[in-house]
Amino acid sequence: MKDIVFALPKGRLADKTMELLAQIGITCPEMEENTRKLIFRNKELGYRFFLAKPSDVPTYVEYGAADIGVVGRDTIIEEDRRLYEVMDLGMGRCRMCVCGPESAREKLKHNELIRVATKYPHIAKDYFYNVKQQTVEIIKLNGSIELAPLVGLSEVIVDIVETGTTLKENGLMVLEEVCDISARVVVNQVSMKMENERITNILSGIREVLAKEQAIKNEQ
Ligand code: PRP
Repeated sequence: MKDIVFALPKGRLADKTMELLAQIGITCPEMEENTRKLIFRNKELGYRFFLAKPSDVPTYVEYGAADIGVVGRDTIIEEDRRLYEVMDLGMGRCRMCVCGPESAREKLKHNELIRVATKYPHIAKDYFYNVKQQTVEIIKLNGSIELAPLVGLSEVIVDIVETGTTLKENGLMVLEEVCDISARVVVNQVSMKMENERITNILSGIREVLAKEQAIKNEQ
């Protein structure tokens, strides 16, 4: 039997996904050992897991290096890969927003030619060009995006807002909302056909666990 391979994004989301999978009997003791290993296997159950940079997860899944992946919707939209997005895990909820200082609000309104710094050039481009039909200059950055308007690199940013703390501590605010983000399960298109039964079982197991968790939350 071929192993079903999972690509997980390094960090908190990977831990949370493993907790979720454990509830449907999918475990990987090897992963709990503190090593620098990148691939982990549960030979008895026929699963393999690897940890990748979040933005690379859709690539591994598109090419079939992984059958199933877990990744934020931000990355799915930005990477625009051929894969099936099959489930919202409801974890890692946040918003993709246009943010900046209060002074940028007027510039956004009047369709001025502004500069937009972002780690997500495709999302920013789609929002400004297609949704707002506003011509802007998009500047790609790789992190600490909030810095850009503070040092005069751009008027606004398109970035993820979770608690809003980073914005607040830097005198910035949400000016417009682009979309909601949360962690999604993605599946390789060929695997979905070839391993349909096993993958469908995994997905329905996860769905049941999520539904139970939701029911408990609703009771509280
Ligand atoms: C993300 C995002 C914001 C921050 C938002 O950055 O880009 O900067 O978190 O979170 P908050 O609303 O709870 O403050 P991340 O920490 O992933 O690092 P980065 O700046 O290197 O992208």
